[in-house]
Amino acid sequence: MSKVTVVGAGMVGATCANVLACRNIASEVVLVDIKEGLSEGKMLDMFQASATIGYKTKLVGVTATDAEGYKPTANSDVVVITSGIPRKPGMTREELIGINANIVKSVVNNVIKWSPKAIFVIISNPMDTMAYLTLKAAGIPKRRVIGMGGALDSSRFRCYLSKASGVGIQDIEGMVIGGHGDTTMIPLTSKASIKGVPASKFLSKAKLAKVAADTMVGGATLTGMLGTSAWYAPGAAGASVVDAIINDTKAIVPCSVYLEGEYGQDDIFLGVPVVLGKKGIEKIVKVELTKEEAAQFAASAAAVRKVNEALYEIGALTR
Ligand code: LAC
Repeated sequence: MSKVTVVGAGMVGATCANVLACRNIASEVVLVDIKEGLSEGKMLDMFQASATIGYKTKLVGVTATDAEGYKPTANSDVVVITSGIPRKPGMTREELIGINANIVKSVVNNVIKWSPKAIFVIISNPMDTMAYLTLKAAGIPKRRVIGMGGALDSSRFRCYLSKASGVGIQDIEGMVIGGHGDTTMIPLTSKASIKGVPASKFLSKAKLAKVAADTMVGGATLTGMLGTSAWYAPGAAGASVVDAIINDTKAIVPCSVYLEGEYGQDDIFLGVPVVLGKKGIEKIVKVELTKEEAAQFAASAAAVRKVNEALYEIGALTR
């Protein structure tokens, strides 16, 4: 028996709930939103689809505007937070902090009241900073707060590696670390591989650089095309992180986690490879970075740290 709550019934939250249900990842999925009828309607729609697709997940839709409203989420094993506004074309994820920080903080406080042992998976943007805020606001062990950005960015990296090489995505391995921002993420082209063979054997230096550049603006490209932020890949990436936790798969997934000295960084959430299991983050995996990648990681940390600082400036956190 496993219970997962997804907060925010927008496109990303609903997609995440749908993947969790369709793939039988959780036995119960609760979708919460502040907008009356939105989560109830989306969960009823999924229930109507369940006979056709063939899954038995219990689906609950909840409208909640205060802590009391979160009662149906009680004793969730994992809580996915997608709350807040998505970016519009031309916006960076970082520009959302002013609105999303207070929304995420109040959601975390409402969730923790009913599910004090839950593991949090953060999708709301700016993701690294929202994960930082969640850890500080919830005051829970760091192994229980996971930002999903690296999982998403790595799936985009594999998509562009597949397109560039003409090899099916199932044979492609690739990892993106660093921040979940257009300029802060670091696709590790040096470690990308195709059926175990370094990607550099299939793609020229210039082609690999183009794959990395496409990956970094993978979200922004879609925002430009769709007029709002993407949802299929973000929702699926969130569900894949939940899967690794609920099913204790011990998968290595690049996720934004709280660093205390690892990779030379302290008091910050940044994307690095971790082993995920039922305890949440079970291990931070140390991979050797090239000199250039290490410099990029330090620059990424400096940029994310600046955004974290804004949490104190706007009063979402106090020292
Ligand atoms: C994206 C958003 C969800 O990258 O951060 O699409």
